[in-house]
Amino acid sequence: MKTTGAVPIRFLTFTLHLILLVEAALAVRQSLTTVAPPTTEPHKNPGKPERGQYQLTGTNGSVCLMACMGLQLNISFTASSNKTVQNVVNLEPNDTKASGSCLKNNATLQLSADAIKTNLTFVFTLNETTSKYFVSEISLSAAWPDMKEPFSARNSSLHYLGATLGYSYMCREEQTLPVVKDLSINTFQVQLQPFNLTRNQFATAQQCQLDQDDMLIAIVVGSALAGLVLIVLVAYLIGRRRSHAGYQTI
Ligand SMILES: *[C@@H]1O[C@H](CO)[C@@H](O)[C@H](O)[C@H]1NC(C)=O
Ligand SMILES: *[C@@H]1O[C@H](CO)[C@@H](O)[C@H](O)[C@H]1NC(C)=O
Ligand SMILES: *[C@@H]1O[C@H](CO)[C@@H](O)[C@H](O)[C@H]1NC(C)=O
Ligand SMILES: *[C@@H]1O[C@H](CO)[C@@H](O)[C@H](O)[C@H]1NC(C)=O
Repeated sequence: MKTTGAVPIRFLTFTLHLILLVEAALAVRQSLTTVAPPTTEPHKNPGKPERGQYQLTGTNGSVCLMACMGLQLNISFTASSNKTVQNVVNLEPNDTKASGSCLKNNATLQLSADAIKTNLTFVFTLNETTSKYFVSEISLSAAWPDMKEPFSARNSSLHYLGATLGYSYMCREEQTLPVVKDLSINTFQVQLQPFNLTRNQFATAQQCQLDQDDMLIAIVVGSALAGLVLIVLVAYLIGRRRSHAGYQTI
């Protein structure tokens, strides 16, 4: 029985190659999705921001808005030296207080980071016709020591982080939300719900498109891998039966 030893080894090496192939594919995808390190920026990238948990309480004493997310500001401003500076700053949850209001069709979440003299405000709007909510406005004011004059930006025609009323919005992947030319917000691991919160808890999550794409890729890769393993297994079993048959004829 020489062949019974050799075939499983071939089977194993093939499977190993298969796994290496899938890993290589995943590595390529990773390198495509991760942002290349900035080379022109004078300031270092601060890395992933810590995830903060912000909530607002309504007039009846229960939580009316919840948002768990990591936030990073990307601002271009004129420094005291008259140079234009591109700065990427994380909001530190320990340093950031939430305030605002919850109304029937809109909710305002103001995040104040006093230590870095920064206020970031999100306005959520509910469209009652479509039963969808989204971030319709983002504004930021910042008075950093190296700024020539305080920075202030506002855009009220946005359509970000949208979901259906009765669900929470969720996005694990990093997203960039452009606000104005000089300001964009990077969000990390977001889950939020600005309307219809019950028992101070998030409702079922609606996943963002990026996360759905990730899931699809995982499913496709997983199925392809399972399919290939199955093919290899069948090929191996057929091969084994053939080699047994071969012995019988000798
Ligand atoms: C910050 O914004 C600039 C200009 O839009 C962009 O080139 C850079 O990649 C951004 N950096 C991060 C970390 O988002
Ligand atoms: C709600 O959405 C519909 C369809 O997109 C749109 O026509 C309408 O203007 C929106 N209503 C408000 C108040 O924004
Ligand atoms: C942030 O908002 C608070 C009150 O809402 C205000 O006192 C403070 O001056 C604001 N800071 C900046 C940098 O705009
Ligand atoms: C506000 O955001 C919209 C949508 O992203 C964009 O088309 C518009 O140019 C922005 N306004 C300003 C003043 O940058």
